[in-house]
Order: sequence, then C-alpha cells, then structure tokens
Amino acid sequence: MSTLAPKSDFPLLSREVHGKSLTYLDSAASAQKPEQVLRAMDDAYRTYYANVHRGVYTIAEEATQAFEAARRSVARFIHAERTSEVVFTQGTTASMNLLSYSWGSANLRDGDVVVISQMEHHANVVPWQMACERTGAELAWIPITSDGHLDLSGLESLLQRAKVISVTAVSNVLGTINDLAPLVTAAHDRNIPIFVDAAQSAPHQAIDVQALGADAIAFSAHKLLGPTGIGVLWARQSLLEAIPPFLGGGEMISDVRFDGFDAAPVPHKFGAGTPPIVEAVGLRAAIDYLSALGMDAVADHEHRLAAYAMDRLQSELGERIKIFGPSNPSERCGVISFELEAVHPHDVSQVLDEHGVCVRAGHHCAKPLMRILDVPATARASFYVYNEESDIDRLVAALDAAHRFFV
Ligand code: ALA
Repeated sequence: MSTLAPKSDFPLLSREVHGKSLTYLDSAASAQKPEQVLRAMDDAYRTYYANVHRGVYTIAEEATQAFEAARRSVARFIHAERTSEVVFTQGTTASMNLLSYSWGSANLRDGDVVVISQMEHHANVVPWQMACERTGAELAWIPITSDGHLDLSGLESLLQRAKVISVTAVSNVLGTINDLAPLVTAAHDRNIPIFVDAAQSAPHQAIDVQALGADAIAFSAHKLLGPTGIGVLWARQSLLEAIPPFLGGGEMISDVRFDGFDAAPVPHKFGAGTPPIVEAVGLRAAIDYLSALGMDAVADHEHRLAAYAMDRLQSELGERIKIFGPSNPSERCGVISFELEAVHPHDVSQVLDEHGVCVRAGHHCAKPLMRILDVPATARASFYVYNEESDIDRLVAALDAAHRFFV
C-alpha cells in the first residue's frame, strides 16, 4: 500500500530532523499542508487581498467573492441545506464556545443538565462547564466501555433533565468512531438539540449534516490540510436565528443606534470583526484537495493504516505495548494512543524524535478521559492521507529502540 496523496505535494514532509527523514504521525493534532493550499493562500495575498464585505472596489469585491465561495464550498463539503448555515470561526474551540455561550445563555437554567461524554476533548467540556457556572446547569457524563465506546446503557436516566447533548464524533485519544444515531434519536425524541464535535471526523470521513440529523457541528481547518485560525460552526438556520450573537462589533449588525443594535441576518450575525479571509481561501483549497481524493477513499486509507499499525505494534512489541481504544480497527479512525511499558510517553516522544518520527505525548486535552484510563498521559500516533505502511514500520522500529534504551 502507498500513500493516498503524493508525499511530494507536501513540502514539509521532505525535510529531515536529526539527520533522518521526517515521519509525521501527528495529524490528529494538526495536518501538513499541500502545495495547492499554500499556493492558493499566496495567490490571494499577492493578487486580490483586501478586507471583505466592505469595499466596492475591484479587489475588495474579488476578496469578498473568494471568501463567500469558501463558505459555499464548506456547505457542499458537509452537505448543508443552506450556505447561510455555515459560520466561520477561529476553530473547533471557538465554535464550541459560541454554541455554549449563545445557545446556553438563551436556553440553560438552574437545574438543567448538559449531557457530554467521558471521551470529550476539553473544547467540548470546559465551555460547557463555564456555561454551567453562568446558568446553574449541571453536566452529566456518558461513560465509556472498557473497549473505548460510548456506554449508552444508562442514557435514559442521564437524559432526565437534559437540555442538550454535546458529543464528539471521533475520540482524539481512542480513535473511536462513535455511532451517533442513537443519541440523535434520543435527543430529538425529547425535543432537545444535539451538538457534535467533528474536529476529528470532518478531516477523515464524509460528513452529511442532513443525514446525520444533528443540530450543530464544529470543526477546524488545520486538521484537514488547511490553515490554522479558521474553523466552522454549522448549525440549523432556525437554531442560529434563535440564539443571540456571541461577539459584538463590526459587520455583525444591520443597524446600530444610540439605544441599541439590530443583528445582521445569519451567518453574518456571528461574523464580528475582520474574518480569516485568506484562511478561508486556504480552507477551500484544502476541501478541493480532499474532495479530489474522495472522502470515502480517505476513510478507507486510514482504516487500512490503523489495522496495519495495530497488527505491527502488537506483533512486534507484544506485552511491551498497551493500545487504548477499540480492538477492532474498523471501529476507529487513524488514531492510536498507547503506553510503552516502563517508558513515560514524553520520553517515548523524545526518543522517537531522534529517529525522525513525530508523535504526540500528553493528556491530549482530554484529562477526564485520562482519569478514566488511569494514566497521566499517553503517546499517540495518528495517520493521514500522506502516510503509508513504511511510516508505521519506522514507528515500530523506533519504539522497539526506545524500549531497549530505557528498559
Ligand atoms: N486537539 C488536538 C489533538 O488532539 C490538538 O491533538
């Protein structure tokens, strides 16, 4: 098996560290960028850069058209019914803060319950903890099974006073691809919304928000081959219309008087200030790139790499490695968190770096989950379209060397 996307499209992947060729296995933290994205952004800055939605001169109109074309491109990518349902934010974290603040302040009251899960990233925990502090609502946690799946056996009782469910589609630690259908059904049976953290799913599998049936999803561009500084909040038009703005300022109003303001129609109501213009152009180029590969092919590629990695890690390292999350590779995306016997994850990451292999070590912004797994941290390898089997072979060889060095 080879890569799905040519490595040569990604300039950074040709560099060396410590005299070794680079093996980048940290795409769950952030993905590398293809030439096509870099060129689109460079071209925007060089040839038509200006602020958007303000000027009536040529390059301002061109910049506005490019920015709004990016919004349409996102809408198509996630199969949104309306382009106006796509709000640009700074990233998943900003999207979840917008939702928890604006939706939370309009809907949460003392004694209400916000249902999240034990495998959430802090971006889908802390904003809700802050909303609970503001409103008197409480969090309820969906537990996880020993195989790293959501345990929905006690859902009925968790949902008793629930006002909203907010869950991740894919765990950034365990790699688990969650089956969201029962949660969507349960939420809508109770007439409450369900929000989905799609940070780890939008880059890796096709998303159809209409088929999914959720009320809002959030994701970041930088994990799907795009730039940092831009992300997406998609939400149903009726939900966006019903909640108050998050940030106030320029461009999010239709009128400002001495006694108040009227918000602009969605999505502009959530677009205060100068938006990430060139980043939107980069996001569009990233979506074009991934769409040309085909999101089903991206998902298949990652499943194959995850299966190969689990097999190689277990057969070569045996008892010396513990892999967290689903044992069936088809139930996870290309994320593998592990513990190497008697070696701290930070030491693992440091020794691997000497072999040119980049993996993340730490709590992965998922401290509640670390508490459930009863570890302070894990090491994590994650794969994307530019990875292939030989990258995993290098990981396995470097882990073997790291274990021999420490033990
Ligand atoms: N949320 C990113 C990760 O899981 C940064 O690594």
